[in-house]
Amino acid sequence: MDVNEVLQFVDRLVVEHTGKHLDDVQRAVVEGTWQRQTYDEISQKCHVSKNYVAEVGSELWQLLSAALDENIKKTNFLSTIERIYIASSENSNIYQNQIYGNNNHFSYPQALNEASPSNDRKKSNSNPKSKSPLLDLTLAPQVINFYSRDSELKTLDDWIFNQKTRLISVLGVSGIGKTTLVKRLIDRTLSNFEVIIWKSLKYPKSLELLTQDLLQLCQVEAKATIDEQLKQLLDLLTEKKCLIVLDDVQNIFLPGEFAGQYQPKYQDYQNFFKLIAEIEHQSTLILISQEQCAEMDCLDRELYPIKSLDLPGLNDVELLKGTGLKGEESWLNLIKLYEGNPVYLKNVVGLIKNIFDGQVADFLGENHLLITQDMPLPQLFNRLSPIEQQLVLALSKFDQPVTREDLIQALDFSSMDLIQGLQSLQKRYLVRKITGEKVRFNLSPVFREYVRSCGKNLNYFTQND
Ligand SMILES: Nc1ncnc2c1ncn2[C@@H]1O[C@H](COP(=O)(O)OP(=O)(O)OP(=O)(O)O)[C@@H](O)[C@H]1O
Ligand SMILES: [Mg+2]
Repeated sequence: MDVNEVLQFVDRLVVEHTGKHLDDVQRAVVEGTWQRQTYDEISQKCHVSKNYVAEVGSELWQLLSAALDENIKKTNFLSTIERIYIASSENSNIYQNQIYGNNNHFSYPQALNEASPSNDRKKSNSNPKSKSPLLDLTLAPQVINFYSRDSELKTLDDWIFNQKTRLISVLGVSGIGKTTLVKRLIDRTLSNFEVIIWKSLKYPKSLELLTQDLLQLCQVEAKATIDEQLKQLLDLLTEKKCLIVLDDVQNIFLPGEFAGQYQPKYQDYQNFFKLIAEIEHQSTLILISQEQCAEMDCLDRELYPIKSLDLPGLNDVELLKGTGLKGEESWLNLIKLYEGNPVYLKNVVGLIKNIFDGQVADFLGENHLLITQDMPLPQLFNRLSPIEQQLVLALSKFDQPVTREDLIQALDFSSMDLIQGLQSLQKRYLVRKITGEKVRFNLSPVFREYVRSCGKNLNYFTQND
């Protein structure tokens, strides 16, 4: 159980008992207590007096004691919450769902087959909930091997089933495992939905066509205008518990511009995402994207009806089992070198087998991060705006994380260009911010190596282009 799970668990209890989410000081008390901090230390972090923190803590322990029917104090909070959380997870239906076959499905439950084409609201409401959902997973991949990601799956379960989040984004760099994770989530939770539809925007279509497509799949005859169709779709999301997944959403954004800017022809999607988040219904839309846009940015983690999950790399040697690699003691180092990205790893495994006879230690002994042609790095570079391209070229010259001042010295950029460029690269998961005495920025090591090795040949724009 990590601190986020504790916060979610306590927040859920508090909401159930008071109707309100944890406030900032309550959050700090939970977080601080979990990290074994004193009230004094917590009070310094949230800039209020120690007495006030102690008061908030005391009220919170009383509330949790009543909610859980246990005597909870600061001193036993950790052990008690962990014990209760594990017991409740084991009893929860969500985590016990049968894992269905991984084959792609396309099927209609009886209830929807019987619905009239116009599928009016009353008729649909009278349909009993069917155990077998309407599925269109034709464009979803089959997941055969799946490792780790327990905490991510639990987070998604919690957002969907406990917090009833209407818009969720699963974000991360290409190959990190976004599509696989969401498909795995579906395989685990299939029977909790009445409708599950997976659409890919690899070759995007207009919002109008997408909406018509979704309505048609649910056997609802689309009305004439896009506004009416959206209303029909929202009615459907209200009547039935639906899960709609849109994969490869980055393709509706402009290449060559800062991250997350809609192409004019797909601008409608922006309002669509806002509608899904703001209007009350019982369904969830999951967006999978390599690039973050404003609608995916969860500003207020507690109150905002959207959530986003930034996917980190996998840190599990299981990933390399059965690949024919040798020297298991070095595998974790190899995984770290390639940022836990299964696609980078898959490509380098072939190379290690061919050139180093599978000996990982020998490969690591070369002390060089090798880039293969099949890593999806040129595509990432080509999507960058001219400012970002120059910025990654500058960043690639440093081995260590750098400050903004270092970059200003290296580049002839205005402060605004630099800030926007760094912001955009973070939204693409290519640059990570490191906080400390000074804020520093680190270019993804694999991407850095790619830029270094291809630097002279990279076809990048200059600011005057
Ligand atoms: N948890 C996992 N366990 C085992 N293999 C995984 C896992 N996650 C991803 N993979 C493997 O990594 C590869 C890439 O995963 P996936 O397609 O989900 O990445 P992605 O983030 O969706 O990439 P893109 O943005 O390019 O679509 C897949 O072949 C998949 O089998
Ligand atoms: Mg994908």
